[in-house]
Amino acid sequence: MRIKSFLVLSLCFLLAFLNACNDSTNEEKEEILDVSKAVRINNPNKQSELSVLMRTLYNDTKAERILLLTGEHSAIDWTSKYENLLIAKQTDESNKGEVFDAYGNGFLIQLKEYQNTSEKERISNYNRLITNCKNCHEAYCPGPLVVINKLPLKDLN
Ligand code: HEC
Repeated sequence: MRIKSFLVLSLCFLLAFLNACNDSTNEEKEEILDVSKAVRINNPNKQSELSVLMRTLYNDTKAERILLLTGEHSAIDWTSKYENLLIAKQTDESNKGEVFDAYGNGFLIQLKEYQNTSEKERISNYNRLITNCKNCHEAYCPGPLVVINKLPLKDLN
């Protein structure tokens, strides 16, 4: 009898614990929908060129993801819109150099691939693009990884 009530009690604790976990993940989800919360901005009045470019890129990518979910895609001229990636002024200009350029060029090549993709390869090219975002961010700017990690799509092909 004692063992039984102990088990019931443990189960209650376990359920309460699991619920608490769910709540906290929901809260996190709400929070990371807002990019500005995932990124610490030193001076919000003076955003760097790259920071503005990145915000626009993030918004475009997030919108693209929603279109892709319904089998559609935007008509954005991605390569022209983001061609300044390598020359845009950064908050921390010491990031600049050969390694940054290598990540940047890799990304721009994949951006072109995505823009010219066949329909069959669209989702996989989109996912490869997000991998390129991640690679550079892991090296230079880990803050936004929380929101970037939400961008990949399931590829049903
Ligand atoms: C070649 C490197 C590189 C690639 C590729 C890259 N980023 Fe960034 N990103 C950066 C750097 C560096 C910053 C910080 C910019 C600054 O503060 O000047 C940044 C900033 C950001 C920010 C924060 C902007 C802000 O200040 O609020 C977001 C969001 C972001 N990137 C999303 C993305 C997404 C989404 C992709 C891919 C579609 C991507 N990035 C691809 C290097 C990169």
